[in-house]
Amino acid sequence: MEEGDDYGTGGLMDDPEDYYPSTPPPTTQIFTMGSGKEIVLHLVGHSPTEAHHLWNGAKIISDYFEEDPARVRSKTVLELGAASGLPSLVAGILGAKKVVMTDFPDPDLVMNMQKNIDECDETTEPKGHIAKTIDAAGFVWGGDPAPLLARLFPDGDGSSAAATEERFDVLILADLLFRHSEHGALVKTIRETMKPSRESAAYVFFTSYRPWKKDLDMGFFDVAREAGFEVEQVLEKKLEKPLFENDPGDLDVQKTVKGFVVRWPESV
Ligand SMILES: C[S@@+](CC[C@H](N)C(=O)[O-])C[C@H]1O[C@@H](n2cnc3c(N)ncnc32)[C@H](O)[C@@H]1O
Repeated sequence: MEEGDDYGTGGLMDDPEDYYPSTPPPTTQIFTMGSGKEIVLHLVGHSPTEAHHLWNGAKIISDYFEEDPARVRSKTVLELGAASGLPSLVAGILGAKKVVMTDFPDPDLVMNMQKNIDECDETTEPKGHIAKTIDAAGFVWGGDPAPLLARLFPDGDGSSAAATEERFDVLILADLLFRHSEHGALVKTIRETMKPSRESAAYVFFTSYRPWKKDLDMGFFDVAREAGFEVEQVLEKKLEKPLFENDPGDLDVQKTVKGFVVRWPESV
């Protein structure tokens, strides 16, 4: 078929202009820390894995770190399913030693995380510190953690982390429990990346945005306990309004953010 040949249909076979819905454009949000510092957050326009929003879990974990910066200061931090990576940026600002911000290894998601790191670096003194402290990386929950652990030894060959059994002090899981089939993979990653010490902590903050599935969300903690971890609830906060207006289900549940800490047991 030659270009311009419409087989005499006069263009009737052409797709109407709005046939394919266009991909929503990227968006930007500004998060203001308690200190007044503003953090610019870019978000991809569309994501089948829900990375296109700044979720309440990320905001409330960030506030929780700022309430007591010792939770992250001088610590090594790994964030899973980060999207904008807000809690990682806040950890870096509060003095974390090293932060690895991860999300699904989609180039757009990784580039977006890097953009947020770079912009945060430009507005944070001393310049260059945030960019040096925080890495963006692709990581699928339950995957091989070696490339993440290697980031704890930036000058090494990647095998040193496994050799010394170096692991992260702090893990961040903000609003990740909605994928119930992935709970085992998330717990596997906690087991393989969190330093075996009573001092280590995986912060798991979430809202049950689909209130009728809240028991399934909570099932994550059964999986964690079965794997030998201790689980402690450290926060329950009811926000003024839900993240998504007009969503179905119990409004109080949609407004509530719960925060848990998952730790290695005493005997570790
Ligand atoms: C609901 S969003 C939460 C984003 C962010 N933590 C926040 O609170 O704003 C879930 C995130 O998990 C990521 N994700 C989903 N499944 C994943 C998987 N199997 N491996 C890695 N990341 C995943 C998504 O890309 C998305 O960024």
